[in-house]
Amino acid sequence: MDSTALSPMPADDERAGNEELLGAAGLTFGYGRDAVLENVDLSVHAGEFVALVGPNGSGKSTLLRLLLGSLQPWAGEARLFGRPPGSVGKRGQLGYVPQRPNLSSALPATVHEIVSAGRLTDGRWWLPMSRAGRDQVGHAIASVGLADLARRPLNELSGGQQQRAFIARAFASEPSLLVLDEPTAGVDAASQRSFRDSLVHLIREHGAGVLLVSHELSAVADDVDRVVVLKRTILFDGTPADLVAEGVGSLGVHEEDLPIWLEQLT
Ligand SMILES: Nc1ncnc2c1ncn2[C@@H]1O[C@H](COP(=O)(O)OP(=O)(O)OP(=O)(O)O)[C@@H](O)[C@H]1O
Ligand SMILES: [Mg+2]
Repeated sequence: MDSTALSPMPADDERAGNEELLGAAGLTFGYGRDAVLENVDLSVHAGEFVALVGPNGSGKSTLLRLLLGSLQPWAGEARLFGRPPGSVGKRGQLGYVPQRPNLSSALPATVHEIVSAGRLTDGRWWLPMSRAGRDQVGHAIASVGLADLARRPLNELSGGQQQRAFIARAFASEPSLLVLDEPTAGVDAASQRSFRDSLVHLIREHGAGVLLVSHELSAVADDVDRVVVLKRTILFDGTPADLVAEGVGSLGVHEEDLPIWLEQLT
């Protein structure tokens, strides 16, 4: 299928020719009888930073699960690296940190060990980690504000801190597609900035695509290429500037349900 037919492109289209990493066409899904997502189209290309926003319960996490193949749609199609998401061969290319990672409370590994595991995907795990690899792990841990807790076992950390350890692991693996679900809730401003720097580095230096679900977008407001507003269906998909021009009010979503950053824009 021609991916360019899926969704309207921004006018100043810099994505042309860039590989589509993640795609949805006409996705419809519900857990019970009622659909929680209806006819959703979305695409994320290499080098693109897309923010997915919407009120609680609007279907953001569900959409991610459909896109990554852990749920099957009632109708429509999801594509991961141009293929059905269930297909093999994407390990290492994809970094995904769910909203509430499934954790074993018995997990004795430290933050540093968990993040180092992100480097094992380069296929040379039997060799000692290179200096660059060690630096990468250190940067990743610092960028989520866990430097002081690096040697602590994961099961002694709070849920939010554990989630940040998994984000650091995803950064360390340098994925070509990074999908993050509410990663920075409750994170202090300094950590937000280093988190932002890591995201931008991954996008600019490695050409990765990023899909970020978040209510706290202030730190990345200047870096986001596209904002997608979801409430059962896609209410808006375009640049932040276009969203300002259109006005959040016209979308039928309460401003308090959207990131503070959007309130600042209006
Ligand atoms: N496992 C599940 N079983 C049944 N219903 C579910 C399940 N997960 C989510 N839902 C329902 O589907 C709808 C969408 O939920 P989802 O978690 O995708 O929303 P969200 O946009 O991620 O919300 P939040 O901002 O709170 O994370 C909600 O009405 C929710 O109650
Ligand atoms: Mg969610």
